[in-house]
Amino acid sequence: MNDLSADFSQWTAAGEALLPDAIKLRRAIHAEPELGLDTPKTTAKVKAALAGLPLEIREGPSTTGVMALLKGPANGRTVLLRGDMDALPLTEDTGLPFASEISGAMHACGHDTHVAMLAGAARALCEKRDQLTGSVMFMFQPGEEGWHGARFMIEDGLLDPAPDAAFALHISPNMPAGVIASKAGALLASSDKLRIRVKGKGGHASMPHDALDPTPIACEIVLALQTMITRRVSVFDPAVITIAHIEAGTTDNIIPEVARLWGTLRTQSERTRNLAKEGIHRVAENIARAHGAEAEVEIEPGFPVTINDGRVVDLAEQTAKALFGEAGFIRMPHPVMGAEDFSYVLQKVTGAMAWLGGCPEGGDYHTCCALHSNKMVIDEAVMARGIAMHCAMAEAMLSAALEL
Ligand code: NI
Repeated sequence: MNDLSADFSQWTAAGEALLPDAIKLRRAIHAEPELGLDTPKTTAKVKAALAGLPLEIREGPSTTGVMALLKGPANGRTVLLRGDMDALPLTEDTGLPFASEISGAMHACGHDTHVAMLAGAARALCEKRDQLTGSVMFMFQPGEEGWHGARFMIEDGLLDPAPDAAFALHISPNMPAGVIASKAGALLASSDKLRIRVKGKGGHASMPHDALDPTPIACEIVLALQTMITRRVSVFDPAVITIAHIEAGTTDNIIPEVARLWGTLRTQSERTRNLAKEGIHRVAENIARAHGAEAEVEIEPGFPVTINDGRVVDLAEQTAKALFGEAGFIRMPHPVMGAEDFSYVLQKVTGAMAWLGGCPEGGDYHTCCALHSNKMVIDEAVMARGIAMHCAMAEAMLSAALEL
């Protein structure tokens, strides 16, 4: 890899200069969170923040997402930066002065900061467009929280022609403020929903031999799935199955006809994902059959594994260290078992995702409230680093520092 010759101090300065605007935008989005693929108020705020910049705005029919293109020299590369826009269905309990005004919706995953940082980066890169050797796509994407927003934007053709490289940041209160953290290969897991329906025969609880009780069969399946995972799946390419919801019966003296199990499957490779899916069918269906009952297994595919390209992670490490010093980058020892729909972009484009530490001031990053908590709080000042990182990564990915 070539050395990074660019003068990155301009990006740290730009991040600091744009921080007050980023905080304002973030707070406005935070107060009015929107869920899913339809986020019109957030989109309006994004467009207002980008107004007057030399960007070509593209939108598709499936989501309220915005692809903003900064055109550079035609013979150059195109790189993509992404920020997700949607909130989560929970009620905020932070007590912040700009807390969500909407009951049952909260930016508990920090996507409000992602939008604000990406809008800041768009402004900074537009101001320095003469220095850029190619084009930059700014992907403002709703529907990350299980709605496949990235996939819909891809299907709408908003990534065509495909960029040469892509980068995204995700803030985390459970990392030291301001550090960038990532790893090559799997960064986040695949995520699939499981639904198992065990059908027996209802009857009187005092005469189980005249019925076919689905409850003990369902319990046996729950335990056997854990055995299947530890005996059939390599510890070096692990999987997690959690049955999180069990439902059967109505009262103490009735054997129900049906027992239902809901859960999640997480893996770090498509190989293990397929192996585990086959195993779930085999174990559930055959345990039910062994007792003369039936099990119907439904596995609803969620996001794929988020797989980082090692070259882009190396570049992110060099970039973060050039911007923030040696302590500015942490190489993660293992993936996180959460999931991300930036995985769809990384299936198509060479790229990487990284975490941005956002532990609140005075907090302990080991114990402070995590993403998806109703009390999740982050240090807004780290958005200055996020803006700088986006800008420097765009410049670096456009340059020969990234060997494609
Ligand atoms: Ni998120």
